[in-house]
Amino acid sequence: MLLGTQRINGNGALEIGGCDTVELARQFGTPLYVLDEDYFRETCRNYRAAFEARYPEVGISFSGKAFMTSAVCRIVGQEGLALDVSSGGELHTGLRAGFPPERILLHGSNKSRAELEMALEAGVGRVGLDHLREVDLLQELAAGRGQRVDVLLRVAPGVQADTHTHIQTWKADTKFGFAIVGGAEKEAVAKELGAPNLRLCGIHCHIGSQILDLEPFREAAEMMVDFAAELRDELGHTVAELDLGGGLGVRYLPEDDPPSLEEYAETVTGAVRGRCEKHGLPLPRLLQEPGRSLVGEAGMTLYTVGVVKELPGVRTYVSVDGGMSDNPRPALYGARYDAIVANKAGEPRERSVAVSGKHCETDTLIADLKAPQIEPGDILAVQTTGAYNYSMASNYNRLPRPAVVLVADGGADLIVERETLDDIVRLDRVPARLQGDWPSRSAAE
Ligand code: LLP
Repeated sequence: MLLGTQRINGNGALEIGGCDTVELARQFGTPLYVLDEDYFRETCRNYRAAFEARYPEVGISFSGKAFMTSAVCRIVGQEGLALDVSSGGELHTGLRAGFPPERILLHGSNKSRAELEMALEAGVGRVGLDHLREVDLLQELAAGRGQRVDVLLRVAPGVQADTHTHIQTWKADTKFGFAIVGGAEKEAVAKELGAPNLRLCGIHCHIGSQILDLEPFREAAEMMVDFAAELRDELGHTVAELDLGGGLGVRYLPEDDPPSLEEYAETVTGAVRGRCEKHGLPLPRLLQEPGRSLVGEAGMTLYTVGVVKELPGVRTYVSVDGGMSDNPRPALYGARYDAIVANKAGEPRERSVAVSGKHCETDTLIADLKAPQIEPGDILAVQTTGAYNYSMASNYNRLPRPAVVLVADGGADLIVERETLDDIVRLDRVPARLQGDWPSRSAAE
């Protein structure tokens, strides 16, 4: 499976953005996250175009949680997208990257006072509200500052999407948003409408992530418009904006077959239009906040192969120099990946191996990879790591987090430096009472 600008060059090596991945590994070290700028930009454009061609007023935000760095913010901003952030850290990154605050939308399922204050101070475009407590808190803070703030109300439409339970967010039994059962959401809307410093612009939902089927998106869109009709009928409120979240899946394996952006946009806009006609509602402005589908396939991770352990008749284990610290998704969600041996990209994939990380547990990255003969020193390129890899990386086993390079037209720019061993201890502090001399002999002597 070759994605975006990936190709096999004359040396039989994998290339991305016109750069030889073996050279990238040599130049920047491994593990290394690589982002294909042209493919990322093209997907942003295609996403916008698919919706703008079918619907009068559209606003697409990049969901920063998928892959947030300062350079990524610049790219999505240049492509005319807005930015969805879900914490003070993501908001800070966006602001420091110079992202126009009025194009930033703050989400988050338990926003702190400090985060809401930051959002007000910056003058963000929208704040998504998840809970009655947040309605009260934001009203209080906005009133204190003499500001009026545009808000979206997050609801859980109760649409079931077929994805891993940890990334399902649709259920009524969820910590996210107000369930459209039992009337709690109407109370929230009434409260927001009564809050003098909040302006309720619209309603929002997000039904889950890595969804490869269009039906749940159609259902959610219809339920949200039905809900908008209820708000008009019962509270006399017309919903101006409908934010349907993110969620379209991407190709992790060659057999994955996600719907095209056109099919997806057709389904969503068709459902909104159809339902609005049925209820006699004006078409709301349609917002979307994709993460994975914009950046997932544009990223790859390069590793260097270390130990190759052959258990005859059982399995061959190939260990790489990263693992669950740079990609926790296999361990967390049972996520599956494909990979190419970058320096042998043209060779037939006739063997079957398990790719493991270097952590002190069974951190299998790929349980069954078809590959040519793999030897220590080979470079392994794991595909589709653009979303929720860098953003979920940790320092488990005190591994420094990898660098990120942006590649395009044969050039590679570092957009996140590799952490150093000193970075690993930078925030450690040793209280005075733990300092002083060691005992003369330790247990290990
Ligand atoms: N909007 C909201 C409110 C969200 O909660 C999310 C994702 C998105 C947009 C973007 O969804 P996307 O288009 O990327 O599917 N760590 C998990 C994914 C968690 C997604 C959480 N919310 C993973 O690695 O699969």
